[in-house]
Amino acid sequence: MLVSPSLLSADFGCLAPDLEMINASEADYLHLDVMDGVFVPNISFGFPVMKAVAKRCTKPLDVHLMIVQPEKWISQVRDLGAEIMNVHQEACPQLHSVIQRIHAAGMKAGVTINPGTPVNTLVDIIEDVDLVLVMSVNPGFGGQKFIPHAVRKVNELRQLITSTASSAIIEVDGGVNLETGRLLAEAGADMLVAGSFVFGADNPSDTICKLKQL
Ligand code: DX5
Ligand code: ZN
Repeated sequence: MLVSPSLLSADFGCLAPDLEMINASEADYLHLDVMDGVFVPNISFGFPVMKAVAKRCTKPLDVHLMIVQPEKWISQVRDLGAEIMNVHQEACPQLHSVIQRIHAAGMKAGVTINPGTPVNTLVDIIEDVDLVLVMSVNPGFGGQKFIPHAVRKVNELRQLITSTASSAIIEVDGGVNLETGRLLAEAGADMLVAGSFVFGADNPSDTICKLKQL
């Protein structure tokens, strides 16, 4: 299992030790949650903070933009050195064009779907993306309860990927712990985001190892 710990649950007053823990851990990525107070009812952090984080982080960055008009920020995300740029399907009326522009900037393109967005809305984009991020909570806050129907959605998405020429991987975000992570792994998830479960643990780096083993 690929694991992408979310910085949202780290100690914002003292990020360096948490970043050093991530760097030394088995984490595959660092997940950065950008919120604008419009697309989601919360504001997290922006580019000045992410630039400072990118400087100290040796893991590839997995940027999750919970913002309107994410296409405005493609070059700034690229300049961070991000490997993956995730945009919400619900925020992109011109989704195909946004995906093309992310690729043209040299990044992997991910499309994210909210809990209320069906998997079948991805039929015409699935062959063009590198990743689908399935939200298993309504985006905006860490520490929320896992929405169980995400497991069925991962199953459906796995079938859609298998039945097309898509090489997209499946990432899941929200309420992930060892129990929900196991169900997601069985349903076909490739990558798990975990915020509060990692940073709230007594031993965060051991918790990352346990998620990796799912
Ligand atoms: C929620 C964010 C998540 C969040 C997950 O809007 O997209 O990445 O950090 O937090 P947990 O793992 O605590 O549900
Ligand atoms: Zn996220």
